[in-house]
Amino acid sequence: MFKFRKEILEEIDKELKKYLDKDNNLYKAAKHLTFAGGKRIRPYLSILTYNLKKDNINEILPAAVSVELIHNYTLIHDDIMDNDELRRGKPTVHIAYGEEMAILAGDLLYAKAFEAIGNIKDEKKAYKVLKVLSKACVDVCEGQAMDMEFESYWPTLEEYLEMIKKKTGALLEASAEIGGIMAEFNEEEMKAIKSYAEKIGLTFQIQDDILDIIGDEKKIGKPVGSDIREGKKTIIIIHAINTLNEEEKEKLLSILGNVKSEEDIREAIKILEPSINYAKELLNKLTEEAIKSLEIFDKYRRKELEELAKFIANRIY
Ligand code: IPE
Ligand code: IPE
Ligand code: MG
Ligand code: MG
Ligand code: MG
Repeated sequence: MFKFRKEILEEIDKELKKYLDKDNNLYKAAKHLTFAGGKRIRPYLSILTYNLKKDNINEILPAAVSVELIHNYTLIHDDIMDNDELRRGKPTVHIAYGEEMAILAGDLLYAKAFEAIGNIKDEKKAYKVLKVLSKACVDVCEGQAMDMEFESYWPTLEEYLEMIKKKTGALLEASAEIGGIMAEFNEEEMKAIKSYAEKIGLTFQIQDDILDIIGDEKKIGKPVGSDIREGKKTIIIIHAINTLNEEEKEKLLSILGNVKSEEDIREAIKILEPSINYAKELLNKLTEEAIKSLEIFDKYRRKELEELAKFIANRIY
């Protein structure tokens, strides 16, 4: 069973606080989300990757928090784009502080990520981390743009996978790669960890899409049914449209992006059940592949990353 280690989470939060040590409205808005209880999966992944070869967690902390800062920036802007009012069990930043301040709070966190990279002691490693992280940021923007554009046409499953690889996978891949850079992985090790992270990047978003439909709002801290309300083309919806009979398809299409009652959402969930099962099967397959990618690493050291992959595919929050 995967368990987040408390001492690591505390180190991450302590390091994060260094970058947001002011109390004006802009910083309050940024801290409103950043310290609202996120899972910290991305910095955690950087640290676990680093721990495959090295143990000096202080060396990796600035790089690890840089990915969490980027993540929080993307969440603030994503909630504006997705019209969501709840995140981590709290009102989203644009609801609590207004849209203008929320955009700026996101920008601040984005800039702070690069400030954190500037604090990596080894300049050669900092340079490599910078390249990886800036590439990931570009991919996130491209992926989020695809996600928006999908609202107005039907993408194929391949297009969906490309979209989530960018909007979500890119930062998870970067998190692992950064751990590898800091621990001086050789080429073979880097290839292996990137393959692992690529798989869990996909499973992370597929499970997010499942939880958006059948999750418990109290546990995920986000509104359930948001994707159905916004007419998002998730793997579940795409699969359903490709496999349902005409009558069910019509019913589903009349609900997507046009939800009138809670009953509509319940009806959509019922129609989507076989497609949710399809997504779960894909999750299991990708998780097995992710775990297999780790085989070149020490049996004991790789254990937590194996458990993390399983956690990501089965998580309920
Ligand atoms: C949510 O990420 C955004 C996605 C990429 C699906 P997380 O589920 O990691 O969010 P927090 O950080 O734990 O709140
Ligand atoms: C967003 O995906 C991923 C990001 C790059 C922020 P979602 O829009 O599904 O994320 P949630 O469900 O709002 O966390
Ligand atoms: Mg969203
Ligand atoms: Mg979104
Ligand atoms: Mg989602």
